[in-house]
This record gives sequence, structure tokens and C-alpha cells, in this order.
Amino acid sequence: MTEGNGKAVYWIIASTFIVNLAQTLAARQPHVVFILADDFGWYDIGYHGSEIRTPNLDKLSAGGVRLENYYVQPLCTPSRNQLMTGRYQIHTGMQHQIIWPCQPYCVPLDEKLLPQLMKEAGYATHMVGKWHLGMYKKDCLPTRRGFDTYLGYLTGSEDYFTHFRCYQSPSLNLSRCALDLRDGEEVATGYKGVYSTELLSQRAISIIERHISQKPLFMYVALQAVHAPLQVPERYVTPYSFIKDTNRRLYAGMVSAMDEAVGNITMALQKEGLWNNTVLVFSTDNGGQTLSGGSNWPLRGRKWSLWEGGVRGVGFVASPLLKQPGTVNRELIHISDWLPTLVGLAGGSTTGTKPLDGFDVWNAISKGFASPRLELLHNIDPLYYDTAPCPGRQHKLTLAQVVSRDMWANSSFNVSIHAAIRSSKWKLLTGYPGCDVWFPRPDDNTSDSSSSEVDHLKPVMLFNIEKDPEERNEVSAKFPKVVEHLLCRLEHHQKSAQPINFPDDDPRCDPGPTGAWGPWA
Ligand SMILES: *[C@@H]1O[C@H](CO)[C@@H](O)[C@H](O)[C@H]1NC(C)=O
Ligand SMILES: *[C@@H]1O[C@H](CO)[C@@H](O)[C@H](O)[C@H]1NC(C)=O
Ligand SMILES: *[C@@H]1O[C@H](CO)[C@@H](O)[C@H](O)[C@H]1NC(C)=O
Ligand SMILES: *[C@@H]1O[C@H](CO)[C@@H](O)[C@H](O)[C@H]1NC(C)=O
Ligand SMILES: *[C@@H]1O[C@H](CO)[C@@H](O)[C@H](O)[C@H]1NC(C)=O
Ligand SMILES: *[C@@H]1O[C@H](CO)[C@@H](O)[C@H](O)[C@H]1NC(C)=O
Repeated sequence: MTEGNGKAVYWIIASTFIVNLAQTLAARQPHVVFILADDFGWYDIGYHGSEIRTPNLDKLSAGGVRLENYYVQPLCTPSRNQLMTGRYQIHTGMQHQIIWPCQPYCVPLDEKLLPQLMKEAGYATHMVGKWHLGMYKKDCLPTRRGFDTYLGYLTGSEDYFTHFRCYQSPSLNLSRCALDLRDGEEVATGYKGVYSTELLSQRAISIIERHISQKPLFMYVALQAVHAPLQVPERYVTPYSFIKDTNRRLYAGMVSAMDEAVGNITMALQKEGLWNNTVLVFSTDNGGQTLSGGSNWPLRGRKWSLWEGGVRGVGFVASPLLKQPGTVNRELIHISDWLPTLVGLAGGSTTGTKPLDGFDVWNAISKGFASPRLELLHNIDPLYYDTAPCPGRQHKLTLAQVVSRDMWANSSFNVSIHAAIRSSKWKLLTGYPGCDVWFPRPDDNTSDSSSSEVDHLKPVMLFNIEKDPEERNEVSAKFPKVVEHLLCRLEHHQKSAQPINFPDDDPRCDPGPTGAWGPWA
């Protein structure tokens, strides 16, 4: 062998090594599929004992890790906002409510979003479904904020078949029903009559089928299911004739369609050979809406409240990459944790984000390590109100009267403000937390739905959530030191809050009689 040949052999070995190394590195970047359900309640999944059948979700989660101490925000926009930024709402000025169709704002454009970070890490990034993070100008759209492709709707609450969103502005003389569906940035007119859950899952599947597997895939599937309006093809409802309540029966059918959609997406990942390197996250965006068929039994409250029924979310991770598959996880995890967690899995960097409130919880999920999250700010919203009817409750008025006489009235944190914070097992709530009813189990015909005891709300309430997840035993009087500490923490967080951005409706939002909801500025 001549010296030249030796060099050639050396180079062949070296380049093989480099190619292998590149493959190893690429293999380390898992595909990430994030499925977000809308208004899916705690008691609406099979493995929480529901009368609604979710065989696909049950099976997927049984082979993965079920997150049973997992928290989301009580409303659509806030949860999505925190998922995309890894930051609390108080830090983006979005601590109050959702974005209504005519409000001229969006997640601040100087926030770097999860898909941008995944893209920087080398991922193909796709989004399907509900955006609801603002769209008054083009720069706010998903395709301008890190997603290569997008099929979905920009607001919320539209019709599942026509994809029309009707909106009546409280301040403008405007009542408008218009299409809200886009493919990329273009209005998508061709899907009238196609049921949203099928439309969105079919798009997700075609993304999977067309994916070039050398590149890691990040796909965010924000399903319309199971938010109101209660609409579903009849075949999904037929198995639920035993449910007497019409809302619950239709809702159950919608859950079944969603369960089937998740099954179909998972099957496509397997068929295309992506599954063995995929991390699939399933999460709800907030608690169930009891007015529209959802249930959070046995938890207190519902969507739009800071009770556990509003914020303790259904969630799990399914992946062949989990180190302890088949486990139930009780570590404290929050929706703001996904950004650092998923970017970490991607081998990416969170450089360029503003200071994160989320933690990388992958070791807690995959290996059962202790969660790095010791505290969780649920929210602070001085403008909070909930206009939805709350059966038998007039707390809002009585609460305002008792605040000045409360023993915590003079604390540095204004206890009239709607706020809640969790620290290990403790949860402190101040102000009016929202509808506080313990709604009965929907499939329990023995309990009288009007009989849940009326508790007297106080401006400051403390619960031991580990022992008392139903928030029945208020213990602030027994643990004043804990209350004092948590009020200090709330005050600390409130000092870092951005001013609330909740602008008036802009008349230029009107899409007119033939247009579609979308950017106007
Ligand atoms: C409100 O809008 C309707 C329909 O567009 C119009 O007929 C009416 O004059 C408007 N009223 C006011 C006060 O602008
Ligand atoms: C799931 O896939 C089957 C078979 O292709 C299809 O008939 C069904 O409509 C799909 N379900 C949903 C919810 O997309
Ligand atoms: C994943 O699946 C692909 C295609 O079936 C196969 O080539 C590859 O070896 C698998 N990788 C692992 C880590 O199992
Ligand atoms: C305390 O908060 C309530 C509710 O946001 C507000 O109405 C009130 O003005 C605040 N009080 C003080 C002293 O800031
Ligand atoms: C709060 O402070 C005010 C003014 O110092 C005082 O009048 C009031 O009694 C205090 N309230 C309570 C509940 O301690
Ligand atoms: C309650 O439901 C059970 C099982 O479906 C049924 O056997 C029973 O008759 C029902 N009771 C009432 C009071 O409706």
C-alpha cells in the first residue's frame, strides 16, 4: 500500500465517521408532534373514568407518561400564548382574557416563538388549526412567526362545517358572520361542509406523508375539538344514546371524533416510519366548559376560573424515546414548560427569547426525576370578570363587600385582584377566582345537580392541593405564614407585570358581507 492509498483509506474512514456522526446527531433530533385539544375537560377522557370513550388516547397514554399534576391556563389565548412564548401572560401584557376578532393586537412581535426556535434548530415547522394569538396585521400570522405552512383559523368559536365565525362587537355597530379559514396566508374557500376535526387531521396526515424524513419535523396540531358549538357528524353520536343530556351527548360524539383523529395521526406517523423517533404531546388548553357539555369532575370550577377545574389539564406524552414508559407522572408541570423542554429535545437554543418562566421538564417526564418547577403563577388579572352564568352564585358582589374587613386587607398585594399561585402543595387564591361550583359527575343520576354546597368565598383562600385537589378545605387561618409568603410572591410577580394590553375593537376589522376574518391593518 502506498502512502497515497493509506491517506485515501484514512479519508474514507474519516468521512464515514463524519457521516455516521451527522446521522447520529440527526437521529438525536426527534420529530415533535404537539396536539392541543380545545376546552377538553378533566373528566372527559377514558382514563379519568369518563363515560366518554377515548380508546386511542387511553392506549397512547398508557404506553407513554400521563401527566397528572399538569397545569394549563384557564382560557384559549392565554394557554396558547404561554405555549408559544414559554412566558407567563403577565410578561406579555396578555394577562386579561382572549383576543376578540376585532381587537388590534397580537402576541408582541418582539417575542420569539417556539416554532422560530425549532426552525433555527433545523426543523421543518407546520401548523394546523386554531391560532388565536392575534391577526390584525400580517406580521402576526403563524406563517410570519415561525411556521413554514399553516392551515387553520385565526379566531375561535366558529362553525365546524362552514368555518364561519359570527361576531357581534359590543362597542362597534357590527354584527358579522364571515369565513375564518386560511391556507398559508390565503383565504381557504374550498372546505365548506368538511368537518373541522377531519379536515385538520387530514392535513396533519398529509404533512406527515410528504415529510422528507432527513429533516426533523415539528408539527403543532391545534384542534377545534371539543370547543363549542356542539357540532358533530351523527355517526360519532350514535354510540352515546345512553347519555340523556343533549349537550353532553353531542360533546361525547365530538370527543370520539377527536380521539379518532389522534389515532389516525399516530397511525400515519407509524406508517411513514417516523414514530420510533417521535415525541408526541397531547394537552388540553384549559378546563372543560360545563355550559357546553364538558366536565371537570371531581374538580371545582371550570374553564375561565382559577379553580383546579379551570387549570388542571389533561395531558400526556407518548414516545418510544421515553425512559420510563407506562408511568403516571405527578411532578408539577406547566404549559409554559414545553418551550424550553421541546427546544431542549431538539438540541436547539433558547437564545433570543426574553426571560423564560418555563422549565425544561424532560427529565421529569422521561425519567421521573423531580420537576425543576417549584412554583407556578396561575395568573394575576386586575380586570377579571366572567359573564357566563354560574348556577346559584352571587359571590362577586359579596366578596367586594368583605375585602376591606378581611385580615389580609392591608397586605402589600391587593387581595381584591383575581390571582392564584401554587408553591409545592400550596395554592393561594385572591379576589374572585371565577365560577366555584363543584359540578356533579355527568353520569351520576343519583346526585341532585343543584345540591353542591354553597361555600362562602373569602378574598384570600389557601388550599393544600396535594391532600385536597377538590379545594373543599380552606386553610388560610391555620397557615398564616404560608399565606403571607405567597402574598409576597404574588406582589413580587405583579411588580414584573407588563401593563395590560386589551385594546378596543377596531372598526376596520369588518370583513364585509363577502370577505373573511383576517389582517386589516
Ligand atoms: C348600524 O349598522 C346598520 C347596518 O349596517 C345600519 O343600518 C345602521 O344605520 C347603523 N347604525 C348606526 C347607529 O351607525
Ligand atoms: C380516520 O381515518 C379513517 C380512515 O381513513 C377515516 O374514515 C376517518 O374519517 C378519519 N377520522 C378523522 C376524525 O379524521
Ligand atoms: C426507526 O425506523 C426506521 C424505519 O422503519 C428504521 O430504519 C430505523 O432503524 C429505526 N430506528 C430506531 C432507532 O429504531
Ligand atoms: C385593588 O384591585 C381592585 C381590583 O382590580 C381595584 O378595583 C382596586 O382599585 C385596587 N385597589 C387599590 C388600592 O389599588
Ligand atoms: C387596614 O389599615 C387601615 C388604615 O391603617 C385601618 O384603618 C384598617 O383597620 C386596617 N384593616 C385591617 C383589616 O386591619
Ligand atoms: C341511574 O342509572 C342506572 C344505570 O344507568 C339505572 O339503572 C337507574 O335506574 C338510574 N336511576 C335513576 C333514578 O334514573
